[in-house]
Amino acid sequence: MQISELNFSKTFNYKKITIEDIAYFEQVVGKENVFCDSFTIAEYAHDWTEDFYFPAEVILKPKSTCAISQILSYCNHHIIPVTPIGGRTGLSGGMLPLFGGVGLSLEKMNRILEIDTQNLQATVEPGVITQVLQEAVLEHGLMYPPDPSSRGSCFIGGNVAENAGGIHAVKYGITREYILGLEAVLPSGEIIQTGAKVLKNSTGYNLTQLLIGSEGTLAIITKIIVKLLPAPKYNILLSVPFSSAQEAIAAVGTIFQVGIIPSAIEFIEKDAIDFGQEYLGIFTYDTEHIGALLLIELDGNYLEEIWKEAEKLFQTLEKFTLQEIRVAESQNQKEELWKLRRCLGEAVRRNGIYKEVDTVVPRARLPELLAKVKGICRTYGLQSVCYGHAGDGNLHVNIIKSGISDEYWKREVPKAVREIFLEVKRLEGMLSGEHGVGCVLPPFLDIVFSQAEIALMQGIKKVFDPKGILNPGKIF
Ligand code: LAC
Ligand code: ZN
Repeated sequence: MQISELNFSKTFNYKKITIEDIAYFEQVVGKENVFCDSFTIAEYAHDWTEDFYFPAEVILKPKSTCAISQILSYCNHHIIPVTPIGGRTGLSGGMLPLFGGVGLSLEKMNRILEIDTQNLQATVEPGVITQVLQEAVLEHGLMYPPDPSSRGSCFIGGNVAENAGGIHAVKYGITREYILGLEAVLPSGEIIQTGAKVLKNSTGYNLTQLLIGSEGTLAIITKIIVKLLPAPKYNILLSVPFSSAQEAIAAVGTIFQVGIIPSAIEFIEKDAIDFGQEYLGIFTYDTEHIGALLLIELDGNYLEEIWKEAEKLFQTLEKFTLQEIRVAESQNQKEELWKLRRCLGEAVRRNGIYKEVDTVVPRARLPELLAKVKGICRTYGLQSVCYGHAGDGNLHVNIIKSGISDEYWKREVPKAVREIFLEVKRLEGMLSGEHGVGCVLPPFLDIVFSQAEIALMQGIKKVFDPKGILNPGKIF
């Protein structure tokens, strides 16, 4: 993928990095944290977004807020682009250094600074791996609920920057709902604190929420105060095979209508099961007669109540054509199922070139969305593999390139994607549920935003980053 293919409305003029710049960076972060070698540059030139590859000119791995402040102030003065880099698992190219410059990896700022068991909060640096935080707080009987599929390698900083969702958002909410405050560095080098260690705050504009989901375009986040919950004691996991994908997706709404809120309800259509099983080399499901699976998790503090709820769920599902429901009770069985679910993005990506479309609509409109997506892709002769967080109305659509010529792919896929997004808009949805705009959605933003709305966002960008050095080419 070339810059020219990304279709920018604006031109960018950045200074190239020189030996003098490198000498300055070495002085700030130490020689051992400055990388110009081709191996490191290549490693940090991609995330999990399709087949994109954009190398930085230098990778820096600062260890302190103060170092980041010095780097930003220097780059702002010299007009060098700076792209923050987290766990590199993003799906909208948020960390891709599109214009070269500095790739600022937060991986060495990976300390859990405090777990406050009295107030049910934690303060962490952005480079903490999400699963590491989840496990650390669990030792205190606490839960950090946002739970992206990539939790084993994504960073909490990236989760905040992209406002990640994940598997448990349906009951517990998304990253945005768990962030109480931030420390961040502005392009000028100034360090700001937003929010506080409080659960309520009606004091002025909410800069914390503005920075969450801003995809590294406004400031570099250097400290995060998160809210925790007591961890529920029990859960059970059901895997429900439906004979058709449409029935599976239609069943989702009925579950909520009878008053059940599962802690996860994930949709995996047949082709996605095939990709996942192939990738893992484990073939638990014979997909010949399965249209889709729902993975449904119920949790709580009383096992008896969870089972009562499961009974109600079984009754609700009676009217659908199902194969036998399997109940994963042991930790091992649960992990196997979650492994299958969590690997899907990677399984599709490893298979070859594909296009990721992260749609979200009101939950009850999912059946219509799925039917439309399938119809549009069929019209274009494209294979679409769908899975996602059905309880959130969030459907990940992966369009597979295999067997399609380069020319057809480049010309027709953007048209198909636009048609899908127009449907999403008609169904009162949004372009991305949790993957962000990054460098993949700007050509489609006109579908959901008016010019006035875009101008407001651009105005905010200008206030924070007047010279446009932070993560250029993203969102707009
Ligand atoms: C998932 C990623 C792709 O849900 O968002 O697996
Ligand atoms: Zn997802």
